[in-house]
Amino acid sequence: MVKVLIIGHGAREHVIGEALVRSGANLYAFMSSKNAGLEDLSQGRIKVHSEMDFKEIIDYCKLNIIDFVVVGPEAPLVVGIVDAIERNGIPCIGPRIEAAQLEGSKIFTRRLLEKYKISSNIKSKNFYSMENVENYIKELGVENIVVKPDGLTGGKGVKVYGDHLFSKQDILDYCQTLVKQKSPFIIEEKIEGEEFTLQTLVDGKHVVATPLVQDHKRAYEDDTGPNTGGMGSYSMEDHLMPFITQNDVDEALEDMRKVVAAVKAETGVEYKGFLYGGYMKTVKGIKLIEFNSRLGDPEAMNVLPILKTDFIDVCMGIINGNLKSNIEFENKATVCKYLAPEGYPGSPKKDELVKIDKNKLKQIGARYYYASVYRKGDEIFTTTSRAIGVVGIANDLESAEKIAEQGIGCISGKLFYRKDVGTLKLLQKRIDHMNSLLK
Ligand code: AMP
Ligand code: GLY
Repeated sequence: MVKVLIIGHGAREHVIGEALVRSGANLYAFMSSKNAGLEDLSQGRIKVHSEMDFKEIIDYCKLNIIDFVVVGPEAPLVVGIVDAIERNGIPCIGPRIEAAQLEGSKIFTRRLLEKYKISSNIKSKNFYSMENVENYIKELGVENIVVKPDGLTGGKGVKVYGDHLFSKQDILDYCQTLVKQKSPFIIEEKIEGEEFTLQTLVDGKHVVATPLVQDHKRAYEDDTGPNTGGMGSYSMEDHLMPFITQNDVDEALEDMRKVVAAVKAETGVEYKGFLYGGYMKTVKGIKLIEFNSRLGDPEAMNVLPILKTDFIDVCMGIINGNLKSNIEFENKATVCKYLAPEGYPGSPKKDELVKIDKNKLKQIGARYYYASVYRKGDEIFTTTSRAIGVVGIANDLESAEKIAEQGIGCISGKLFYRKDVGTLKLLQKRIDHMNSLLK
């Protein structure tokens, strides 16, 4: 039996662990806080310790004779966890430090796209001080501004005019804050359209698509409220979106292939692992919002449960550089709704009891993945972040959404979620928005 170590403690890692076990892995888990789902899947073969302590991770791998490692979150990736593990002769799913810069540095990514003339790029400029900031705001126009810190911000550092910034002064103040924090930043043009997530599997040369997903970043219904890590996501049975065609996907995929080749040309390192493309379809074509060097959370919960191909074979393809292009997914729609503690993200209610009717969830056929919750005895409690992802899978979106809703009904506590995720009404709103831009 293949011994696989998963690193990470969230719902993304829970669903990765499930896919590994489904393919016959003997699962081990290394996590900075205990995920009850991973604890069960790995039958207690776990270590709860900082995911940034590479020495401990390597020692744990050696002690348990781990065959390969899957790294879930970005934080250890951007500081070289894969390099450290591979130096010890243990294969690893995830990009090495140079390649992980696609997520770790927005300046690196925009420069790369510019240098290699990759068409999904948009106008942007790097800043290290306030010098020339005013000029660039003038050049783009106040209303067309997005400010992004260079490094990882857990989805919370990006500020968009009209959403978080409402005047030139707001923009200047935010830039000033970043300068004070000694954080380099970029100012880029604000684009308009519909966002989609294209998660790919990459073995250094081949880039293979998984079904398209759309995430919902805003905390409240109708896309209002503060930005979050993502409140839910859906995918369609044809693996597209009604407003994103196969041509659009091909364009984005071609873009990602060029980026993977550019990373190799620029750094000498082959990109391996998962590459997450956050794109927007605009009147000027497909444009890049961001890359992540890992699977998405919640988006991993949309694609992995419907993967038909053996996941260990996929991992071996990534490791050996011979990933097959015919990786199969069921033609099912999926809807993931995240339950979060009341008050999330601003002032979440932590240490609150969450009651889960597991039998009823099973009857309904809804799946659930633990995120930031902890187990004490037999009971589950909230922390300060998203709690549980509930997933419905069916032949069409409407049925998948119903299953997710019924699943949510089996879980109670001081929690909230977005009822509108995956509904036909919200889907129609997206279609109308895209049509209004394209006409
Ligand atoms: P990110 O953390 O880079 O995913 O950005 C968070 C959100 O900000 C994205 O999901 C978009 O909705 C929005 N955003 C980021 N960059 C842009 C941009 N250049 N134009 C418009 N919206 C953007
Ligand atoms: N769902 C967005 C992310 O994983 O970054």
